[in-house]
Amino acid sequence: MSELKLGDKAPNFDAETSEGKINFYDYLGDSWGILFSHPADYTPVCTTELGAVAKYKDEFAQRNTKVLALSVDGVESHKGWIEDINETQNTTVNFPIIADEDKKVSNLYGMIHPKADDTLTVRSVYVIAPDKSIKLMITYPASTGRNFDELLRVIDSLQLTAYQKVATPANWKEGEDVVISPAVSNEEAKELFPKGFKEVKPYLRMTPQPDNK
Ligand code: BEZ
Repeated sequence: MSELKLGDKAPNFDAETSEGKINFYDYLGDSWGILFSHPADYTPVCTTELGAVAKYKDEFAQRNTKVLALSVDGVESHKGWIEDINETQNTTVNFPIIADEDKKVSNLYGMIHPKADDTLTVRSVYVIAPDKSIKLMITYPASTGRNFDELLRVIDSLQLTAYQKVATPANWKEGEDVVISPAVSNEEAKELFPKGFKEVKPYLRMTPQPDNK
């Protein structure tokens, strides 16, 4: 079982995929990355998930984010299933799917949860920053398809908070007010946030979203 934690360096690997052999770090380059597993090819929820990710190609590109899927099925299975995804979801799969038949990557990332299923991967998601540190880990059960809008939202938050001394409140979305980090004094806040801020409580100060750079 993997012991990966937030802030750890995402392990690198070589893998066979639906688009040929890749090296994970080479594939990511300087981009942000999403590595996500699904239980099996030719299953209904997974078909909708991979179709949804394909349709968000421009959203991921705007966020300089590359996606990479994984299941323990083989390359030929992936290639046949991709045709079904394209047909049924009215899209074109535009990212590689790892064929992790020997479970090397699944085990490296702790994507098999034996009490849920001792052979298939669950729905794990890892968001990885350009410095290859792990910024987000979420695990969903096989029976629940993921909300990819939520992943875009988290990436927006991560990319903003990487540059600005702010954090994003509950249900925040791009363009909405953010909270000022507790470590920032009011004096510093006046300098950093020229649009001003509202002190609801000394520990809860809201400011319009600054630029994410
Ligand atoms: C699905 O993708 O539909 C699925 C896969 C494994 C278990 C349950 C559902």
